[in-house]
Amino acid sequence: MFEHLKALPQDPILGLLQLFRNDPRASKIDLGVGVYKDAQGNTPVMKAVKLAEQRLLEQEASKSYIGPAGTAGFGRAMAGLLLGDSNPLIESGRLTIAQTPGGCGALRMAAEFLKLCSNDATVWVSNPTWGNHIPLLGGAGLNIKQYSYYSKTTHGVDFDAMMSDLQAAKAGDIVLLHGCCHNPSGADLNIEQWQAVSNLLVDKGLLPFIDIAYQGLGRGLDNDAAGLRLVAEQVPELIIAASCSKNFGLYRERTGALMVLSATEEQAQAGGSQLFSAIRGHYSMPPSHGAAIVETILTDAELRANWQGELDEMTQRILGLRDQFVSEMDSQGMDFRFIAEQQGMFSFMGISPEQVLALREQHGIYMLDSSRVNIAGLSSENIPAVAQALKTVLR
Ligand code: LMR
Repeated sequence: MFEHLKALPQDPILGLLQLFRNDPRASKIDLGVGVYKDAQGNTPVMKAVKLAEQRLLEQEASKSYIGPAGTAGFGRAMAGLLLGDSNPLIESGRLTIAQTPGGCGALRMAAEFLKLCSNDATVWVSNPTWGNHIPLLGGAGLNIKQYSYYSKTTHGVDFDAMMSDLQAAKAGDIVLLHGCCHNPSGADLNIEQWQAVSNLLVDKGLLPFIDIAYQGLGRGLDNDAAGLRLVAEQVPELIIAASCSKNFGLYRERTGALMVLSATEEQAQAGGSQLFSAIRGHYSMPPSHGAAIVETILTDAELRANWQGELDEMTQRILGLRDQFVSEMDSQGMDFRFIAEQQGMFSFMGISPEQVLALREQHGIYMLDSSRVNIAGLSSENIPAVAQALKTVLR
């Protein structure tokens, strides 16, 4: 039965992480996988998470099943975080929420749901997009098309090309948008561009599908959700996949949320029954621990303020690193100003795969072949070495 299986190449992000771990050089620098790191290169458990865990340990009364949708408290808290606590959509009866195993679980179950809605559903993804989008969405049987997004010349969004490509989308097609902190480019839509995209979605009858995995790590919790909130107000139907991996630092707890906004309450009821049945058929129910932490933090004023303070510090650190990197490059005679204009954890260095390889082999600096770097992997200590190595390979 198994003898015909051929070994697959490693996932580019996870494979790189393995290569890094196997590298014996003490001076190695990991700018690969997207996890937040502090100045010492650690990915600590956030203080509010520790406090919430202590509380759960003392107060959790049962480990009984929670059902395919997860807990209502987590769903309500996440809807508030994403849409704004007083958003009338939350109580409209049009919103179906599922607690999911990470943002990946949300993306995959959204894709399974869309496949149930239309057998020949087509989803448009940005070029480039996060490496796991296509396996997650295509694996559920969705057709994938790409729209232009990033300009290697301006290092920003090629908005004209994006809008022109999306003109080719047909009514009923789905458009995947990154809510903020575009992965891998760090180039985000501004609010006028969100408005123009929203108009296009409405005019052409396209379904927005917003993946938001970095809320709070770009320009703050509310600013990072501004595009999403604008679209939610203007379209009849919307899908949101959210991750708590980065902004709560809950990577391995696999905590995320899927929200489906339907045009009417009746459609939300029918759609919800389909979604929860699909979840039951895939993993039955989501894990509880990470979502219980998030619910505990978001529903307690003190823990919430503590969490938000630490998240702000993380974001400020990333912004500071962007500035430090640009000035170090500048002092070495290289113009990398675009890095300071981008948002979130990622940016492209804009170098070739051969140069990426040279950085890895000769200097122990790890980034994706596309030259995507995790800015949080930089530090005041390693920036001079990274800049020096870049200068060498760019020569
Ligand atoms: C990344 O893009 O590096 C992260 O989202 C981690 C992952 O699972 O790929």
